[in-house]
Amino acid sequence: MKKKKTPLLAVEDLRVSYPASHSRRGEVKAVRGVSFTVGHEKVGIVGESGSGKSSIARAVLGLLPPSARVEAKRLAFKGRDLLGRNEKHMRYLRGKRLGFIPQDARMALNPVMTVGAQIAETCSGLTRRETRERVLEMLDAVRMDDPERVWSAYPHQLSGGMCQRAMIAMMLMPGPDLLIADEPSSALDAQLRGEILRLMEGLARERGMGLLFISHDMNLVGSFCDRVLVMYGGRILESLAARDLVSQTGASHPYTRGLLACAPHLREGRKGNLPVLERDPAWLGEGESSP
Ligand SMILES: Nc1ncnc2c1ncn2[C@@H]1O[C@H](COP(=O)(O)OP(=O)(O)O)[C@@H](O)[C@H]1O
Ligand SMILES: [Mg+2]
Repeated sequence: MKKKKTPLLAVEDLRVSYPASHSRRGEVKAVRGVSFTVGHEKVGIVGESGSGKSSIARAVLGLLPPSARVEAKRLAFKGRDLLGRNEKHMRYLRGKRLGFIPQDARMALNPVMTVGAQIAETCSGLTRRETRERVLEMLDAVRMDDPERVWSAYPHQLSGGMCQRAMIAMMLMPGPDLLIADEPSSALDAQLRGEILRLMEGLARERGMGLLFISHDMNLVGSFCDRVLVMYGGRILESLAARDLVSQTGASHPYTRGLLACAPHLREGRKGNLPVLERDPAWLGEGESSP
């Protein structure tokens, strides 16, 4: 039987808003009608801080605070609706099929449990010995120098980069269909960042895993992803092939061009001050003011 090609993730007209707080009058419209799909590919979301990137990730994962309002015409993972799911099912999906690497891995790990035990929890149907072997193999795959030590270490005994890799190992262990990484490398030094990206890329290729990669770093996303969504003020302003971003031929929106002009490494030999990024209120759409 011929299978219909369903994207791993389908998002249509997603809106996320947060209630007014004492510091902010009026609700915050963090995501204002965003549509995209992710297949077996690496899709990047790029945009400055506050543009709504994390809110999209958390809406997909069912990890927004209860006070947040989420609406969408469609929010589906492998063709199945996510919005109507109960917390138990979302927890199953997050543990098995939908991996999430948050920005601060150390905070996301359980501080009172050894790293080995935490990763082992994601394995099922194996004996203790098999589980340990598989976890050690995975720790080796994420280039931990001493998997045995990491197995019995607590998160506070590891460096930030090691926690990040432990988190990646934990997320990859069940072989998810889609991995959502929210600024996974911003706390890492350049060399380690490169290593971790190559690792995720290799695993994505080997396993046919889809990757939604969130970053504010235009260079990084352009060189790492297949396709890039450029966000501004809760909207996707532009969607383009990463190679067009790097060659600067395909970016048509003035905001994207502005971001590119501000990204220091894309244009070699640039001298002097970086240009100031210009913004036009019209990009937010007619009749809506900035939050
Ligand atoms: N839990 C929250 N409560 C209230 N406002 C929030 C919350 N999380 C995010 N926001 C607001 O929503 C907007 C988008 O934030 P976020 O999705 O974190 O953007 P990004 O990840 O691109 O930095 C920002 O204005 C931010 O202040
Ligand atoms: Mg964020």
